[in-house]
Amino acid sequence: MVDENELWILSFYRTSEISGALFFGRLARTMKPGEIQRDMTKHFSDESMHAWYWTACIEKLGAHALKLEQSYQDQYLAAAGLPVNIMEVLAITQVFEKRVARPIWRSTEKRPTSTPKGSRNSSTGAGEDD
Ligand SMILES: [Fe+2]
Repeated sequence: MVDENELWILSFYRTSEISGALFFGRLARTMKPGEIQRDMTKHFSDESMHAWYWTACIEKLGAHALKLEQSYQDQYLAAAGLPVNIMEVLAITQVFEKRVARPIWRSTEKRPTSTPKGSRNSSTGAGEDD
């Protein structure tokens, strides 16, 4: 089971992944066809899968995701303003992905019943190394 605070945190990460997928999807649609658009398409697909993994995680913990209005990106924009270019967007995304994973895995290591050791998968967005 998951407590109320953990459910909120997991739902917040899920909402942020959805926001990321939508953002990068919209960005990809503005690009001309080519390598960058191809890679951006893969990226919003990855972000969408991350949201799916968080949803599955929440459900495995016996809960249902909360509908939250705010995401990490909203908080970032309020604190730092709009990114100035695509490289800044990608850098922020990379930092976010790494920062999200660490506290989650630290908290699961304290809860031996929630996630078996060795079950990390870096392709899910839920590991420290992606
Ligand atoms: Fe992600």
